[in-house]
Amino acid sequence: MDTLQKAHSFAENNYDDNEIVNPSANPHMNELVAAMVSRRQALKGGVSVAAATLLGGLSLSACGGGDDPTPAPPAAKPLALGFSAVAKNKNDVVTVPEGYQASILHALGDPLHWGDATWANDGTETADSYNRRIGCGHDGMYYFGLSEAGKYQADRSDRGLLCVNHEYVVGPYSLHPNGLTAGSTRIASEVEKEIYAHGVSVAEVQRKSGSMDMAMVRGSRFNRRITSATVMDITGPARGSRLMQTRFSATGRQTRGTNNNCANGYTPWGTYLTCEENFLNVISRAVGDDALRSAAEVVALKRYGLTQGRVSPYKWDTAGTDDLFARWTSSVTGADATQDYRNTINTFGWVVEIDPFNPDSVPAKRSALGRFNHEGAWPAPAVVGQPIVIYMGDDARNEYIYKFVSKALWSAADVNGGMAAGAKYLDEGTLYVAKFNADGSGQWLELTHGKNGLDASNTTYPFADQADVVTHARLAGDFLGATKMDRPEWGAVNPLNGEAYMTLTNNSNRVDPTATPTGSQLKPDAANPRYYSDTKTDDSKTPPVSTVSKGNPNGHIIRWREAASNGAATSFAWDIYLFGAQADAATDVNLSGLTANNDFSSPDGLYFDPRGLLWIQTDDGAYTDVTNCMMLAAVPGKVGDGGAATAAGGTATIKGANATDATVRRFLVGPKDCEITGIAVTPDGKTLFVNVQHPGEDGSLASPTSAWPASQTDSASKARPRSATVVVTRKDSGAVGV
Ligand code: FEO
Ligand code: CA
Ligand code: CA
Ligand code: CA
Repeated sequence: MDTLQKAHSFAENNYDDNEIVNPSANPHMNELVAAMVSRRQALKGGVSVAAATLLGGLSLSACGGGDDPTPAPPAAKPLALGFSAVAKNKNDVVTVPEGYQASILHALGDPLHWGDATWANDGTETADSYNRRIGCGHDGMYYFGLSEAGKYQADRSDRGLLCVNHEYVVGPYSLHPNGLTAGSTRIASEVEKEIYAHGVSVAEVQRKSGSMDMAMVRGSRFNRRITSATVMDITGPARGSRLMQTRFSATGRQTRGTNNNCANGYTPWGTYLTCEENFLNVISRAVGDDALRSAAEVVALKRYGLTQGRVSPYKWDTAGTDDLFARWTSSVTGADATQDYRNTINTFGWVVEIDPFNPDSVPAKRSALGRFNHEGAWPAPAVVGQPIVIYMGDDARNEYIYKFVSKALWSAADVNGGMAAGAKYLDEGTLYVAKFNADGSGQWLELTHGKNGLDASNTTYPFADQADVVTHARLAGDFLGATKMDRPEWGAVNPLNGEAYMTLTNNSNRVDPTATPTGSQLKPDAANPRYYSDTKTDDSKTPPVSTVSKGNPNGHIIRWREAASNGAATSFAWDIYLFGAQADAATDVNLSGLTANNDFSSPDGLYFDPRGLLWIQTDDGAYTDVTNCMMLAAVPGKVGDGGAATAAGGTATIKGANATDATVRRFLVGPKDCEITGIAVTPDGKTLFVNVQHPGEDGSLASPTSAWPASQTDSASKARPRSATVVVTRKDSGAVGV
């Protein structure tokens, strides 16, 4: 979701889901500016010494050394894109390449079990039925092969469990009979339905006879909903902390619900990771609450965006005194933290592990992975005898990139180990935050209590223990001088060489490098180098309406290669794989040389499929005058395959090799006012799942702008728009994309 560009009609006080709450003046900013000056000189002669050293050292381990984390598969035909590029368009359908077909797997409100009626298209479904229906706002997802014995079978392609995040309710103009009922207090029945329409769905899927297309298996014993009310454990360092105590769990060991589940991850033992992003959508705090808090608590609440008196856009707390609603105000109302919900805020912003193969399993908030606007959690390929490594981003302007390295070393015997394996690998480990240096090198800075000044004497924030460090990872990152990024969205790790990628979707907060930044504004830096203007003209209005965006409106994709291959590396080399831009933009904006066949803006979703094909999805508001959001397929190179560049605005950076029609190509364009987000590909590469989130988001029940997914097959349809999962296959049943 990106309400940065697309304000919810829902919210009266439209909440910018990516509002800036990082005011910290990291000491490194000045260092970076100084370093950039000297770096420009260094780059005149090519890659800097530091980066060259890193790249040189790394190339050894990336060429098949004994400790390579991702040994290349046996020599196969080189990956190559094998479809005709889809043209940009603004149609109310999913457009796929010639020779491909798209079908709808499931959409908002579809029943997972027998006994509930099918979607009625009038909002009459009961709130309770959403405990058994597909939720709203399809986002991150993962396909797990399912064996005949009901276990995880990584190589199975014709039958599996599809886990899908339901990030938020859209509008919500498809969910309720008459759309959202306006007012300063919410109606209980509507809020209850919204609580159950958030979260995650698990659905069994099977291939249709004679086709690579798939259908949901209604009534499967694996089908399950996890919602914003599901009981879950808090595990890792924050388990039992005073910071997690609530009236629901005086011991601080449990909470209810996972919320605003954006992107995702998966584990090699066969569990799903779902990540809590814009949890402030649903959490309020009372006027005057600061006076009832310690100074440290006020610092922490502010850093996480929950200022006193803040009214959440969803206002769930206003629907009544029932605990189901009252818990959404993170305010002091009782004698101590076991008597109220002052700590509600601390129970969101985590990575949640779900075992889809055990419908009775209790999900776990794995606190060792830190608390922030978690976009997702992307593992490096697991290697026996080495730690599990997971990359993560905090999606808000000026926030950070993180890495978790498990203490336990991977044993393949733990496949199908469920939540016990999760506890083994995800509850103990080391959390790091990234610093990107101007010379193309980078460091992972350790977020461990008692190290690097992260202790009770810290003047930024007094870290009492590791529970405090993980719960307030942003504050720890501030103190260590982590690099403020242009909104980290999805990450992905190349299975062929172990390099990690992350989208930086856009940042309106970068300012002219010659100007003096004010407030939370930032000058560009080498890893976030852009400052320019982009004009969008909406021809559907009379007269046409033009809006100008400044900063980094089109986003970019950064990537890095670790200095060692065993997960323990604390340094890396980076470059910028791709810059989003219109093909006709100036060359210092269209830095990657995009053409009409592959130009895009605001990359968000990112996924390496099992073959090593990279898929890029957009959540854009800058190029939407020309095209709906889209998905591209790419065959990427590697860190260091390009060279020095200077971005519009004059900031020096390091970019990857330019894109060509052969290496990056548009595969799909979505319906109107949607975001393309969430992708999975079966192990055989023949079935691709892609999510369409919030079609018609800019409309309303009275004035809809989309009728998708009904419009996919009926252009005259007046049906309500719904988020949905699409299955894309080749008509000749071949592998997709190649
Ligand atoms: Fe839910 Fe950052 O996108
Ligand atoms: Ca986004
Ligand atoms: Ca434009
Ligand atoms: Ca996203």
